[in-house]
Amino acid sequence: MSKIKAGGRDPRSNRGMTQLDDRYATRAVPRYTSYPTAPHFHAGIDGATYGQWLDTLAPDTRLSLYLHVPYCRTICAYCGCHTKGARRDEPVIAYADALLREIDLVADRLGDRRPVVHIHWGGGTPSLLPRASFLALVAKMRARFRLEDGHEHAIELDPRTVTPQLVTTLKEAGITRASLGVQDFDLEVQTAIGRVQPHEQVERAVALLRGVGITAINFDLMYGLPHQTVETIDETIRLTRAMGPGRIALFGYAHVPWFKKHQRLIDEEALPGTEERIRLADHARETLVAAGYEAIGLDHFALPDDSMAIMHRDGTLRRNFQGYTTDTADALIGLGCSSIGLLPQGYVQNMPDIGGWQRAIDAGLLPIAKGIALDDDDRARAEIIERLMTDHEADIDAIAAKHGFTPAHFAEAFEALQEMVADGLVEQKGAHVAITDTGQRYARVAAAAFDAYLARGTARHSVAV
Ligand SMILES: C[S@@+](CC[C@H](N)C(=O)[O-])C[C@H]1O[C@@H](n2cnc3c(N)ncnc32)[C@H](O)[C@@H]1O
Ligand code: SF4
Repeated sequence: MSKIKAGGRDPRSNRGMTQLDDRYATRAVPRYTSYPTAPHFHAGIDGATYGQWLDTLAPDTRLSLYLHVPYCRTICAYCGCHTKGARRDEPVIAYADALLREIDLVADRLGDRRPVVHIHWGGGTPSLLPRASFLALVAKMRARFRLEDGHEHAIELDPRTVTPQLVTTLKEAGITRASLGVQDFDLEVQTAIGRVQPHEQVERAVALLRGVGITAINFDLMYGLPHQTVETIDETIRLTRAMGPGRIALFGYAHVPWFKKHQRLIDEEALPGTEERIRLADHARETLVAAGYEAIGLDHFALPDDSMAIMHRDGTLRRNFQGYTTDTADALIGLGCSSIGLLPQGYVQNMPDIGGWQRAIDAGLLPIAKGIALDDDDRARAEIIERLMTDHEADIDAIAAKHGFTPAHFAEAFEALQEMVADGLVEQKGAHVAITDTGQRYARVAAAAFDAYLARGTARHSVAV
């Protein structure tokens, strides 16, 4: 099939970059998987503070557990995740042993067995954990926490690692949902990003998971990859639809070679420019919707009967460090290096380097590197930003009142939004703010109007589309 190369024109589309894109799409704004965002965490919040926060956590607080496994067999050239290569099992086993001790440290501090409604294994490639280590960790969570009936137990999987043995282990562990890294099915794109996995391999992985009863399947797709075109996207979505994952995440490739050195392996000449990138994103979005998926927020899609689509329609969907989520827990416990936790009192982040994290645990310390305590202003802004990023609207009257304010408290934010109101991207009726259909691609810019930290920050954010 002939392809339109990055930067070329798609004959079926005469859309280009609009004046609005020119003004909004290239603004560097956070993705708001938290508020305040991680660059504002500081070392004043340490393991001792976290310990005090855990001590005072109400016993009925429903918890979510996130476990980070920062290992992969090889590193894909495009990868922006916090992970490293491990050819042997030894470091992975040692890491799992430290995770077991970290679970004990947190659970000791909490005292009795607390209710857990959601578990998520992220990475890296958590399926790299040897069977004995993985099952020991699951047994430890069951021993130290009370896993509630109907809890979600999700894991991120590299489809190349999915074998009959692995799915048996996952089933035994009680896994209910699997996310597979797919990106694009085109061989030229896969070769350029250092991750070749023919669609038959992904089909086999999906069939194996479904065969043991793990039927909740997510795919990660990406746009903005080298050599990607509307045709590769069409074919990727056609094959994806045939495999029928209930949820799809469509991420824009973040090319940050100054931060992730292995991304230098990506040929920058083959990367789409800003205009092409926007076209690819729009095309992927339209094609997924035409294929029967409901668009959710910035980058998610779900079949109408999937719980994510249902919660989105109800206005109850949440957004956290994993992106859009059906997780309704009151607090998040992060386990493993670099993991982020959220308690009613504030955010904490574990030490990012494996060695430092392991040494803290060996010394019997909660391995916190930094965090931020929340006040009522932070909580109110966090809720407004979460609703704008998730529902594209926010009732600022109600949210302000819930946190002890009036809408006048956000006068500067309303002022900052006026440019978007004038451009027809945002509608404001009293203190009710709604992002219009045209404005949805710039939802991050609207959310940023409520970010009291942004002007103070020095963080380098990716562009808004
Ligand atoms: C932890 S990985 C998924 C699980 C497994 N390690 C795999 O690769 O199949 C998480 C997802 O992040 C996305 N991702 C990785 N690097 C990215 C980047 N530089 N920009 C945007 N998304 C990226 C990919 O869609 C990837 O599937
Ligand atoms: S994309 Fe997945 S498998 Fe590849 S390096 Fe990143 S975390 Fe590992």
